[in-house]
Amino acid sequence: MKSNFFMEPFKIKTVEPIYLTNREYRKKVLKESYLNLFFIKAQDVTIDLLTDSGTSAMSAKQWGALLEGDESYAGAKDFFEFEKTVKDLVGMEYVIPTHQGRSAEKILLESLKSTGEYIVSNMLFDTTRANAENIGFQVLDLPCKELYETSKSYDFKGNIDVSKLEKALKEKSVAGVILTITNNSGGGQPVSLQNIKETKKICKKYSVPFILDACRFAENSWFIKLKEISYKDKTPKEIARETFQEADMCFVSAKKDGLTNTGGFICVRDSKINEECKNRLILSEGFPTYGGLAGRDLSAISIGLKEVLEESYLNHRISSVAYIHKKLSEGGVPLVHPSGGHAIYIDAQALLPHIPVSAYPGQSFVSALYEYAGIRTCEIGSVMLGKTLENGEKVYAIQELVRLAIPRRVYTQSHYDYICESILSFVKTEAPKLKGVKIVKEQPFLRHFTAHFKWV
Ligand code: F0G
Repeated sequence: MKSNFFMEPFKIKTVEPIYLTNREYRKKVLKESYLNLFFIKAQDVTIDLLTDSGTSAMSAKQWGALLEGDESYAGAKDFFEFEKTVKDLVGMEYVIPTHQGRSAEKILLESLKSTGEYIVSNMLFDTTRANAENIGFQVLDLPCKELYETSKSYDFKGNIDVSKLEKALKEKSVAGVILTITNNSGGGQPVSLQNIKETKKICKKYSVPFILDACRFAENSWFIKLKEISYKDKTPKEIARETFQEADMCFVSAKKDGLTNTGGFICVRDSKINEECKNRLILSEGFPTYGGLAGRDLSAISIGLKEVLEESYLNHRISSVAYIHKKLSEGGVPLVHPSGGHAIYIDAQALLPHIPVSAYPGQSFVSALYEYAGIRTCEIGSVMLGKTLENGEKVYAIQELVRLAIPRRVYTQSHYDYICESILSFVKTEAPKLKGVKIVKEQPFLRHFTAHFKWV
């Protein structure tokens, strides 16, 4: 069998319609949405690549389990099954459910508040950064230097720069080191187990907790199996376990590799931090045996965490992202190389050299592509990662990327072909004459969700 063969390892049991619209209609929708794709109704989107979060199709087994969910306030059976599954995977003593990833990161980071001034990372995701800064931490991203060689392929561009990490821990008061696996803001690139182990060693030397933001742990494990030679004969589960074994604590959004539409969790080894987190959990999420979720959701997560580690699933998942990456790359679209885990990242700056960073080329691209083909994508550039300081000064991101996040088990190969053909034709006919955008309204935190834009 050909090695690039990636037939969907599932059959479709339930379908939902895709509403087809025309360009004139989408032009009106875009204008009414202030060129912000988060404001567009999902029914006005043909192919939705806004996020891979909470957009998975659940399996028949997961849907079946929903019916048997135990909705008791305390001690529901689904919690114990969930706790057992997570412990078996993560190997940490304490498991705390939350309603999604950002509440997990907020609760965990709050418990570290008094222990240092900095959070150091390979690169934090936007919500994690906003939560850390809101709590009062300074954030220091120390990605490996290969990450910014956008068009070059390296196996593990998600790695942290360990010599910079050691320097930071030596010189600064650091409350925690977070490795985001895979590195979502940096092209969905994986982190090697070697880098994870080196990070652990340095954290141990300076007595700083080592934390994993592990919402794409299964995709990261698959890349380790494919690329880190000593792990080629291990199962994804064995690799995931070895990954978690290195960390002192983790937070996970189950909306990604949990293969569910909601949920998250925190795991820690330390009983004091467990207690602190649980006290905060009761204030904002709920009792520790449901953490803001329904019993049925806990059950769906337990099953999702097992299904996501199946080799046929992971092979299809990573191969389908690579399929789109290859087609776009062969068509001359500048991309982050190599293909990452959950998404394809277009280098909007390289694609639209006539649009200055101050006119947000990534936002211009996502808006115009929606109008052209009904495809909703997400800017990961200066709109998401930049900001306007109190004195009016603008801060820009290092890269202007556009992310095509692929929902899990949702689209088929003909959808992928529609995506590729539309983007290749858009890049040829529309991109050279695209205008930039300006921000006309923004909020101080996470502005990309609510900002209003205008064409310039
Ligand atoms: N950490 C990472 C690396 C993420 O990608 C996300 C969410 C979170 C934490 C927060 O989890 O959404 O469950 O609260 N990422 C989504 C995305 C939103 O589109 O990449 P959440």
